[in-house]
Amino acid sequence: MWSQAASTFADDVGLAFNFTMAVGFFFLVTITLFMFYCMVKFYHKRHPNPSTNDGSVLLEVIWTVIPTILVVVMFYLGYLAYANIRNIPANAMKVKVTAGKWYWKYKYENGVEQSDKQGLRVPINTPIELDMISNDVIHSFSIPAFRVKWDVLPGINGRENNKMWFEATKNGEFEIFCAEYCGLDHSRMMSKVVVLPKPEFEKWYAAAGEGVAAAADDNPGEKLYNSKGCFACHSTDGSKKVGPTFKGLWGKTHKVVTGGTERNQIVDEAYFIKSLKQPMEDVVKGFPPAMPPQNLSAEETKQIIEFVKSIK
Ligand code: CUA
Repeated sequence: MWSQAASTFADDVGLAFNFTMAVGFFFLVTITLFMFYCMVKFYHKRHPNPSTNDGSVLLEVIWTVIPTILVVVMFYLGYLAYANIRNIPANAMKVKVTAGKWYWKYKYENGVEQSDKQGLRVPINTPIELDMISNDVIHSFSIPAFRVKWDVLPGINGRENNKMWFEATKNGEFEIFCAEYCGLDHSRMMSKVVVLPKPEFEKWYAAAGEGVAAAADDNPGEKLYNSKGCFACHSTDGSKKVGPTFKGLWGKTHKVVTGGTERNQIVDEAYFIKSLKQPMEDVVKGFPPAMPPQNLSAEETKQIIEFVKSIK
């Protein structure tokens, strides 16, 4: 029924789906044909006097037993697929997935981070465990070719332990979608899984890991920019996203809307800090009021300001 089937779940899910579809289709056709047959056969001109039927035990048994068997089989096939999907192997390779408005991020155990555009790189024929958390609202991590979809919840009320897994069986790139409506750019919250042969993955993983170690002492503001998800809406290269770019932002004069009136505002320290804490107060003209208030410490605020100032 799907064009691609690229994980160990695909056959189980496919069987449960196809069986249910086939049973449904069989009864749709059979019952419709029987209905037309009865319309013709029992047309009122041919049967002016209706007769009564006092029931049939045989019929009652048939139409109770057969559907019961069919739904039990449907349940059983669905349960097999589901149990497998929920039973995470202990030896799985772990990747942390962070969702937010509107991005995906992947973090490996050696500290390597991948953006949604770079994709989730995984080795083939290896169980991968995803430990998922959202920075804001509920998103849903969906890989149609793998037949997996699992909601990504904000980390409150002990919901940090939100996991799913898969094992890819084909090399190549497969689409990842957000399958839960999460606001303005939900439809663009896309990414991809990149399935690589094991040696190729190992090579990339080791090399990327060394890069992380080398960059360990880089600027803390940039780390915040990445970890707090600022990058999702504010570019550093001048490109337009949901919010204004950080490139050349410092000292610039913005047209902002405050309480319905437009005014000019220079981007200075006071304005920047206010915008972090109360982003809805002065919304830059031409951008949607989409930013959630940021709860940063004084130290973090200083670091992010230094970072923004440095992007010229
Ligand atoms: Cu995230 Cu829809």
